[in-house]
Amino acid sequence: MAGLFITLEGGDGSGKTTQAGLLEAWLVESGRSVVRTREPGGTDLGVELREIVLHRRGHIAPRAEALLYAADRAHHVDTLVRPALDRGDVVLQDRYIDSSVAYQGAGRVLGGDEIRTLSDWATGGLAPDVTVLLDLDELEGRRRLDGARTDYDRLESEKAEFHARVRAAYLAIAESEPDRFVVIDATRPQSEIAEVIRRRVSGLLA
Ligand code: TYD
Repeated sequence: MAGLFITLEGGDGSGKTTQAGLLEAWLVESGRSVVRTREPGGTDLGVELREIVLHRRGHIAPRAEALLYAADRAHHVDTLVRPALDRGDVVLQDRYIDSSVAYQGAGRVLGGDEIRTLSDWATGGLAPDVTVLLDLDELEGRRRLDGARTDYDRLESEKAEFHARVRAAYLAIAESEPDRFVVIDATRPQSEIAEVIRRRVSGLLA
């Protein structure tokens, strides 16, 4: 059985974790072996890098930040994602290269193209088979996060304007790669969103 690489993308508070859980349960019920993972932090080394990149106090230079995410990704792909795909598993991953292009690109210091080039190098060019983008207005995302908790990490504390740029960048990537993306309005009921995702994924299962 061929492996399948599914990534979930979207702003903070867009419901990726909920949808990953629903999709994982459905895939397992369908008899597939699933590896659920995330970036940053899908490996032991990644947990350490995640702590640095998200919670370190003080400034991190934009290129250093991009390299930290890329280092996490390189190790994650090499030690966990590729081996799982080679075994024929479904890899269900919260965030991947598109997060770097959208978030680091939204910082406006680095261009989306150079960030993608860096990430492609880090992964040896591994692209997802399908990417689910949960699209959400940045203010609604913030409202959802506020309801949940108060301990924001570095990126969550960025201003609404930054998150509006992240959203626009995601939509632009999705538009440029319509075959890879499923874009879903994240304000729809969770059960409907799950159904749209299942329909798309079932078409890709061998
Ligand atoms: P995430 O794990 O989704 O955070 P949480 O569990 O708190 O919702 O992502 C952490 C943050 O990292 C998120 O704000 C987006 C950011 N990020 C980047 O800026 N670039 C990247 O390449 C990745 C993978 C994440």
